[in-house]
Amino acid sequence: MDDEILLAQAKEAMEKAYVKYSNFKVGAALLAKSGKIYTGCNIENASYGATICAERVAFAKAISEGEKEFEAIAIVGSGGDFTYPCGICRQFMSEFGLDLKLIFEDGENIKMYTLSQLLPEAFIGF
Ligand code: THU
Repeated sequence: MDDEILLAQAKEAMEKAYVKYSNFKVGAALLAKSGKIYTGCNIENASYGATICAERVAFAKAISEGEKEFEAIAIVGSGGDFTYPCGICRQFMSEFGLDLKLIFEDGENIKMYTLSQLLPEAFIGF
């Protein structure tokens, strides 16, 4: 799967973000090993802590459709800079494998990391 396709889908998903409070849109496109892509956007809430990030929306959609293995996720934000996942999302995604490839774009350049690079010494259970 082309990284550019995944980024394009993340940008499309970003436009659906519900960002009544921060006005900061995030979009994610998650490629499952099945070949299917699941997108997500952030969804904010008047009770700020109930907000859910774009990455976790994409994962929740995929997992609830029976997916368990993932290749890559593209993440974009409306801030004009690279948008890296928050700590909760890094931990949430780690449940499904540290080899996940993360693709970022700031409108000009593309950067890529593995989840293990962004979450070193991850807690993997007991
Ligand atoms: N946000 C995401 O969707 N993903 C992240 O990894 C970082 C933060 C959202 C949550 C909130 O709606 C907005 O960005 C500002 O924090």
